[in-house]
Amino acid sequence: MLPSIKTVALFSLGLAALARAQYDTALVGTWTTKSKKVMTGPGFYDPVADRLIEPDLTGISYSFTSDGYYEEAYYRAIPNPATPHCPSAIMQWQHGTYSLPGNGSLVMQPFGVDGRQLTSSPCSYDRSIYVRYEQSELMKSYQVMTDPYHNVPRLNLYKFDGSPMQPMYLAASPPQMLPTQTLNPTSTPKSTGKSRVKRMEGGDGGTQERLVGMNKDPFIPPKEPYNADHWWWAGVGLTALGTALYMIPTST
Ligand SMILES: *[C@@H]1O[C@H](CO)[C@@H](O)[C@H](O)[C@H]1NC(C)=O
Repeated sequence: MLPSIKTVALFSLGLAALARAQYDTALVGTWTTKSKKVMTGPGFYDPVADRLIEPDLTGISYSFTSDGYYEEAYYRAIPNPATPHCPSAIMQWQHGTYSLPGNGSLVMQPFGVDGRQLTSSPCSYDRSIYVRYEQSELMKSYQVMTDPYHNVPRLNLYKFDGSPMQPMYLAASPPQMLPTQTLNPTSTPKSTGKSRVKRMEGGDGGTQERLVGMNKDPFIPPKEPYNADHWWWAGVGLTALGTALYMIPTST
């Protein structure tokens, strides 16, 4: 006997109710670190131009919906011990679905083709690298509390190994997000095979695929209050010029 349409409909409704119950309303909203300059949504990633937009300051932002979608935005400086005067910066954006498996953990599964990463290394030959980025994430646990100092809702995320991330504060509710569906519904990149690069990063399972034609110019890494190196290099330049002038033979 075929199940009646009514039974199927009731069953679906039941599943929908169950799905709703699986999420935590305390998580819902857009969360951002102290600088408040990094926020998920159209201000960070422009899916039409396929371009990441550099915020004024570094930070991290996560958004969660009440029905299982998330979005994340990272903007970080990468200190470079080999060339301390030349820090690199990285921007990452992903969205997808999340689940709460019931053991206190938070599991995020991105829509694979949508994630983006832009690395800017002003002093290296390959100054700006824009790639597809896909990294599922496991937060061992999370905690939503009222921050005792700022008296605002605060989200503590603990990474897969239990180490805490920077605390984030509620910045928007309902969350500020791009559409919670695949924005780039092609599984093949637009670029030609020649320029495609696929590599693993740091053994953590993230896949990257080089994209071309977007974010051609390197973005400026986060500003430092005073750049002593600038003057150092200016000094080198002047010394070199002085030396060159000194070495020009004077003919009479
Ligand atoms: C919770 O369950 C998920 C999914 O099964 C698993 O990946 C994760 O490691 C678990 N978390 C803890 C703290 O055991």
